[in-house]
Order: sequence, then C-alpha cells, then structure tokens
Amino acid sequence: MIDKTPLSIPRHIGIIMDGNGRWAASHNLPRVAGHKEGAVAVDRIVTACRERGIRVLTLYAFSLQNWVRPAPEIKALMSLLGIYLKSERRTILDNDIRLTAIGDLDSLPNSPRKALLDLMDESASNTGMTLCLALSYGGREEIVAAARALAVRVAADNLDPAAIDIDLFSESLQSRNLGPLDLLIRTSGELRISNFLLWSSAYCELYFSDKMWPDFHSSDLDEALASFSSRNRRFGGIGK
Ligand code: IPE
Ligand code: IPE
Ligand code: MG
Repeated sequence: MIDKTPLSIPRHIGIIMDGNGRWAASHNLPRVAGHKEGAVAVDRIVTACRERGIRVLTLYAFSLQNWVRPAPEIKALMSLLGIYLKSERRTILDNDIRLTAIGDLDSLPNSPRKALLDLMDESASNTGMTLCLALSYGGREEIVAAARALAVRVAADNLDPAAIDIDLFSESLQSRNLGPLDLLIRTSGELRISNFLLWSSAYCELYFSDKMWPDFHSSDLDEALASFSSRNRRFGGIGK
C-alpha cells in the first residue's frame, strides 16, 4: 500500500556542523583541511535544503566559545569564511537565497565581516530560503542580551515588567526573524547542544548523526528529514 501521509517538512532546520577536526585526523590531514572539506559540505547541504523546500536553515559555523581555540586555527577558519562567501555568492543569488547572520559579528575580522555584510545586503530581497550563519554565536549570550535590552527599557520607564511575556522576549532576541527551530541536526556523534539556539530549540526535534560533517551528504539530510516526518510532535498536548 502506498503511504499517502503527507511528508511533513521542517520549516526551520539548524545544523551543528561538528567533526571537521576528527575527519581531518582520520585522513592524516591537518585540522584546517577538515574545515576546508566542511565548507564543501556546507555548499551541498545549502543547495539540498533549498531544493527540498526548507524555509530557514541556520548553520552553526563558529561559537563564541570557539575563540579559545589556537590562534592559527581561528585565523584559518576566518579566512575560510571569506573564501566561502566569495565562492558561494552565485549559489546564494542564483537560488533566491537570503543570507543573514546571528552572533557577535563585530568580533569578526574586517575582511570576512565585509564580505558577509555585502552579501547580506545583496541578497536581502530574496525569498526562496533564508540561510542564517551563526558566527561568534552563543545561545546563552543571546538570551542575556535580550534580557538586558528589556531591563534597559524597564529602567527607562518605557516598559511595564508585567508586559514581558514569551512573545515580547522572542521579539527581543537577535534570532527573532528565524522563528522556532523545528529540527536540530548534529553531526560527529556528540550528543549535546553546545550553546546553539537555546531559546528557539525549546520544542525542536533532535537528530544526531555519527557522520563527521565533511562526510554529511544530501542522503544523510534525507534520513534526518524522514526521521522528522515520523515524529509525533505533541507540544505538551496528547498528539495525533
Ligand atoms: C566543527 O568541527 C567546526 C567548528 C567548531 C568551527 P570541529 O573543529 O569542532 O571538529 P572536531 O569536533 O574537533 O572534530
Ligand atoms: C559546536 O561544536 C560549535 C560549532 C559546530 C560551530 P564544538 O566542537 O565547538 O562543540 P563542543 O566543544 O564539542 O561542545
Ligand atoms: Mg567539535
């Protein structure tokens, strides 16, 4: 019998792209080679998500906590970001993708930051899919910043504390335009969130893959999507 159940597609997917370093080590290569191969995986998964009708894709590219890594690795990652943005420009513009970013963008070196802001500008009116890069991003820091912004308004007598609710808080977050996360994918076999979208992941479905990020292909994405469509999301209720 043919299954006529409509496949439910997540609106917003977030990916913790982990395992570049271990991929490199397993190929006897320096860690940076893993990051380079990781950028190739970004290109194919962005295209695959666009083809599958995903509305929002948030990629965890660099966490606030990643700044503790050795300086040469950080330098290589930032330079790869600039290279990626240049080589990805046509894919983004030709596929009607809008590029956005969350995180402490001011902390990025000038050259990749300018490439990022330019491409965000250029793609601002695209509507096919939103691609959000989480760069120098931390979920707890994002929540603290929102709380601080609301506290400033309260202190200035511009806001009644009683008016602070889930909606107002959501609107105060840097990631406010992305909407709730539906599916969170993490590669590399690690079973943790590592300070990714903490607020919007409240009711997301979790999917962990043992593949290292450079080995993640569209077939792996399809497995994650199939798993998602088989889930019964109850949001506290009693479900279907
Ligand atoms: C993910 O791969 C990329 C970033 C965090 C920037 P890692 O560099 O964390 O790779 P592993 O976890 O060491 O294998
Ligand atoms: C999470 O990976 C951050 C990114 C993928 C950008 P990490 O490799 O930094 O996470 P931990 O340190 O294993 O938790
Ligand atoms: Mg890692």
